[in-house]
Amino acid sequence: MVDMAVTVGGLRMANPVMPGSGTFGEGLEKVMDLNRLGAIVTKTITPDKREGCRPPRVVEYKDATLMAIGIPCKGPEHYMEELVPIYRAYDTPLICSVSAPTVEAFAELTAQISIDGVEAIEANISCPNLEKDGKAFSMDVRATETVIRAMKQVTDRPVFAKLTPNVTDIAEIGLAAQAGGADAITVANGLLGMAVDVENFRPALGNVTGGMTGPAMKPVLLRMCYQVCQAVSVPVIGCGGIATASDAIEYMMVGASAVQVGTINFIHPTVMLDIIDGIEDFCRRKGLTRAADLTGAMQIDGYNPQSVGTQIQVA
Ligand SMILES: Cc1cc2nc3c(=O)[nH]c(=O)nc-3n(C[C@H](O)[C@H](O)[C@H](O)COP(=O)(O)O)c2cc1C
Repeated sequence: MVDMAVTVGGLRMANPVMPGSGTFGEGLEKVMDLNRLGAIVTKTITPDKREGCRPPRVVEYKDATLMAIGIPCKGPEHYMEELVPIYRAYDTPLICSVSAPTVEAFAELTAQISIDGVEAIEANISCPNLEKDGKAFSMDVRATETVIRAMKQVTDRPVFAKLTPNVTDIAEIGLAAQAGGADAITVANGLLGMAVDVENFRPALGNVTGGMTGPAMKPVLLRMCYQVCQAVSVPVIGCGGIATASDAIEYMMVGASAVQVGTINFIHPTVMLDIIDGIEDFCRRKGLTRAADLTGAMQIDGYNPQSVGTQIQVA
């Protein structure tokens, strides 16, 4: 028997697998048993209704997606009145992803959304901080710490900080989130990219730039997850390019306590169930009795990796 349960930032989950925010559509309960997931994560909720970015919103590559969706949102009431009741019917914990343009708005939304049935809040702090220079909150250590602290003050739910990978030193941002009181840190959102529609002399995305996601991004996001895991003491949730159980296990072996599965859900809507089964099979094959024992299980055997500008030090 393999005990698949993990605890992340005080949230007990039946297994370490959950969807990445925005990649888990309304209605998926019709094609899979949501009770099998470790957690459910909502699309990011914003304080006001939003249209999102102008189209085109997506450019597809063989193993990656470039997208600028712009967080279209029907407003918090839609989620609280229509979605939370659907998910409350399952045993699976519900994590609400929130985002806002100011620290105050983040805090207000966090308080508003901390209702029965919402068991944790994920702060999508990859969004622009409109009180400052418009850079994403999680591109700046001070903004990261400030916004997480403000959220922690208004909710008794665990707060997870979801970071942007578009920084030079993600470990210092992870430390800032921890200093602000984050109960866990999700690494990470999409990598900034762009593409040009040469036939029409136009940017391929209506928003010009967007986030690269999907399997091709995994080595970069895995490296960032490793760096954050090395720096912080709170649990880390790995996210970026996970398509198979083996990908998820890589994230856990570099230190993640749980994983989020994103873009691949659009291709294989039930892939998370295969990933859960695959992690269990792997543990059984390797004689591990607990999935949680995968966390940090990678060994480097005393070799001190050469610095490649990544500031990774091995004791
Ligand atoms: C279509 C799409 C919509 C997304 N929407 C959100 C969102 O609302 N909030 C958020 O925090 N991340 C959002 N993401 C990012 C994913 O949750 C995830 O962090 C990212 O896609 C990396 O994981 P992946 O490579 O497995 O896709 C979105 C990604 C995609 C592809």
